[in-house]
Amino acid sequence: MKNNECTEIESRLSQLKLVPVVSVPSVDTGLRLAEILIRCGLPVAEVTFRTSCAAEVIKAMKKEFSELLVLAGTVLSTEQADIAQGAGAECIVIPGFQKEIVAHCQLREIMVCPGTATPTEVLQCMTMGIETVKFFPAEVAGGVGMLKAMEAVFSDVRFMPTGGINPGNMKDYLRLNNVFCCGGSWLAPEAMMVEGNWTEIERRIVAAVSDLQR
Ligand code: 3PG
Repeated sequence: MKNNECTEIESRLSQLKLVPVVSVPSVDTGLRLAEILIRCGLPVAEVTFRTSCAAEVIKAMKKEFSELLVLAGTVLSTEQADIAQGAGAECIVIPGFQKEIVAHCQLREIMVCPGTATPTEVLQCMTMGIETVKFFPAEVAGGVGMLKAMEAVFSDVRFMPTGGINPGNMKDYLRLNNVFCCGGSWLAPEAMMVEGNWTEIERRIVAAVSDLQR
């Protein structure tokens, strides 16, 4: 990954502030979601590799909506990282720190955001030159208090908390100096996409975007 490209993606994420973490059940569903996200002013999604069509969804989203920033989430192996990059994902998100996947992404020049929940994992990321990390599972790993404690020792590290973020606590995280954006699945839960409840999904996205602007 060239440093300037990595910084550009991070800066887009910082502007957007919120990343919908989505487990998409089908390509059609993914395209419908992408259209809503763009129309409602939140042109970003972390598509998790928790559904078998994740790579196809990423590919279709990038083909139809090139302006959508697409991250690949729940990437658990170098093979999945390659598939995600091949499909057009702009960043690989790992739930934890896994040296082999991180090194592989660096070799393949794609931004990687490894998961951290402890100072040891943050240090492992820093050792590999990574200071933009995921903080997961945020709420149960110490939440806002833990991130404040981390800031005292890792002043240059920027976190993307996910796991337990909701409309009620999102802003508590975003107020922290060391948080560049939050991730959350409440905006478009898989079950809601399966049942086709797009009215509620759109309502949640619109509410979040308006809350971010306040
Ligand atoms: C993730 O993959 O980042 C989390 O599962 C999202 O957590 P949430 O479902 O609590 O928002």
